[in-house]
Amino acid sequence: MNTPVPAISIKGLTKDFAVTLRGVKLRAVDDLSLTVEEGHVFGLLGPNGSGKSTTIKVILGLLGATAGDVRVFGVPSHEVESRRNVGYLPEAPYFYRYLSGYELVRFYARVCGVPRKQLQARVKDVVDWVGLSKAADRRVGTYSKGMLQRIGLAQALVHDPKLIVLDEPTAGVDPVGTAEMCELILKLKQQGKTVLITSHLLAQIEDVCDRVAILDHGKLIVEGSLQELVGQRDRQALIVDSLPPADIEALRGWLVSRGHALNAIEQPRARLDQLFLSKVSRGGHAGASGGVGSNVVPKSSAPNTSAPVAASPKPKA
Ligand SMILES: Nc1ncnc2c1ncn2[C@@H]1O[C@H](COP(=O)(O)OP(=O)(O)OP(=O)(O)O)[C@@H](O)[C@H]1O
Ligand SMILES: [Mg+2]
Repeated sequence: MNTPVPAISIKGLTKDFAVTLRGVKLRAVDDLSLTVEEGHVFGLLGPNGSGKSTTIKVILGLLGATAGDVRVFGVPSHEVESRRNVGYLPEAPYFYRYLSGYELVRFYARVCGVPRKQLQARVKDVVDWVGLSKAADRRVGTYSKGMLQRIGLAQALVHDPKLIVLDEPTAGVDPVGTAEMCELILKLKQQGKTVLITSHLLAQIEDVCDRVAILDHGKLIVEGSLQELVGQRDRQALIVDSLPPADIEALRGWLVSRGHALNAIEQPRARLDQLFLSKVSRGGHAGASGGVGSNVVPKSSAPNTSAPVAASPKPKA
């Protein structure tokens, strides 16, 4: 039986940067080996400067490796062909601010070779899909941070790639926008796409990723599924209604009599982001309406600064 080709295969990747004119080198990635299987959402974690973005840039062929072998769907990452099926949302995207959202995505669709006949429909579909259709005629320069990330995701998806690489897709985005980005990532997974994501928001990574790798100083520290890494198979939590102390003692006695231990009694708390999401409306600002929700000023109620001021009394000379 043929083993499936992984979406990304990294073997012994090392990347050095020359950081002074005297040739002093900084090792940004140090002998990294990783495999991302097709159809997985894979989280690349690590502190600032640990080599996440450098690894991504080598995968995308934007940087050459000092040593090692990096392949995308089996094709070496320095070959142009390896990028045909890849969409990329950079860490700090720089978009031409005078284009509208539609124009921007249309531009990238043409760069990525979307056939002319499909172009219009594809741009519209992908802008709708990221929830920006109501704001897509606005200039990108007027977008909020969350809207910029959405239009960035739209440009990354416009050519229907099999692998989507998202470098900090929720940096600076509020919890509502972050939750919506997570929903979009899970929808991509349902469509069979592979997603490589970096983020500092560990709760967000936990919600969407099948596997994670943690880098530190360019080295792989740990890699595995979330269940392998943080699951506690030898423990269970039972959530019950609040019990009086006597019942807790009786329960403890019963558990001990059966050879078990009551390890902790805690008052469960909802996560702060769950509270935030339950209290804040979606779609009013950076949300699904794409920033043209309830706070759009209707033309008729906007102050008319060009109206004559005939009613004002003339200042006396
Ligand atoms: N073009 C470059 N020239 C020199 N050094 C670089 C270059 N790009 C990155 N580095 C260095 O390589 C190391 C890894 O940087 P990288 O951007 O990959 O980290 P990161 O994990 O993405 O960090 P962050 O979480 O801040 O985005 C850092 O020490 C950085 O200063
Ligand atoms: Mg980075």
